[in-house]
Amino acid sequence: MHSFNELITQFNQEFNKQHFPEQPASLYNAASHMLSIGGKRIRPVLCLMGNELFDTLHPDAFSVGMAVELFHNFTLIHDDIMDKAPIRRGKPTVHTVFGDSAAILAGDVLLISVYDRLNKVQSKYKQKIISVFNKAAIEVCEGQQLDMDFEGMDPEQVQYNDYVNMIGLKTSVLLAASLQLGAIVGGSSEGNQEHIYSFGKNIGIAFQIQDDYLDAFGDPDKFGKQQGGDILVNKKTFLLLKALELCNPAEKTALKELLVSSPDNKVERVLDIFHSCKVDVWAEKEKDRFQQMAFESLENIAVLSSRKKPLMELADYLLNREQ
Ligand code: IPE
Ligand code: IPE
Ligand code: MG
Ligand code: MG
Ligand code: MG
Repeated sequence: MHSFNELITQFNQEFNKQHFPEQPASLYNAASHMLSIGGKRIRPVLCLMGNELFDTLHPDAFSVGMAVELFHNFTLIHDDIMDKAPIRRGKPTVHTVFGDSAAILAGDVLLISVYDRLNKVQSKYKQKIISVFNKAAIEVCEGQQLDMDFEGMDPEQVQYNDYVNMIGLKTSVLLAASLQLGAIVGGSSEGNQEHIYSFGKNIGIAFQIQDDYLDAFGDPDKFGKQQGGDILVNKKTFLLLKALELCNPAEKTALKELLVSSPDNKVERVLDIFHSCKVDVWAEKEKDRFQQMAFESLENIAVLSSRKKPLMELADYLLNREQ
């Protein structure tokens, strides 16, 4: 069994061999830019850990990990256009540097190269792998669309459960599928695949809660994104939904006014209200709740508990990260 750092190093050695043709440079430089500016590489590590939970590492887990990381980077390029984000991983976003058209096409190239990777896996489970991947990929699009739909809605029309459903789709299913794909390579039973998927789904929800928390309260130098980006585009994050529930009537009126106007100090004023009604404290409890549910699913997986340690450590890191 390997540690998180060992797996990342091994994965990056393979992933960094990814090369694009030279021309048109305006397209391929945009794709290379995205892959070269870092990223935590969580999803491929989940794939590799999913494999190692059941068997020794197999080269197919690297192919699937690369596919999932390419897909993730595709979603980020398009997401940054949708979210009007200027900064990602501490660097200007692809669309800011190369323009929207090149960014859309660079994302498309990454998405299409996913299937070169998936095609490399052994035929005995190729069909299953492609179908698990495709299901997750379509759900990510559904989640992204819900996220966009919610932006234009009155916050009181969006319930907390709608938010959990939306982040479950846009974020968690890919983490869950990464684990399941690794488990398939590792020869896991269907039952264990379901448990590991469910572990990933709940960890993924807590992961997005942390992402939304960091968007508001994180240190932009560590987080690598614009602080308050979600506030600026009126995202219906748990912070906003819960703040409207917990704040006093004056704060509620102020918050609702801020949502329909865009004063220069919008982020600062919204953050003051978030702080005052302690949604940051509430976030900690909510992450714990999803982590507990995740760990229950992990317990149900029929392998020695010592084998589950790397996944438990990874979950702790993901939910307490600052990056
Ligand atoms: C960002 O994912 C998108 C979300 C689902 C929140 P990561 O936080 O894994 O992004 P990178 O790859 O490490 O930059
Ligand atoms: C991202 O959610 C989900 C996908 C990219 C599919 P966010 O929009 O919160 O991700 P960041 O914060 O921009 O990384
Ligand atoms: Mg988004
Ligand atoms: Mg975004
Ligand atoms: Mg975010």
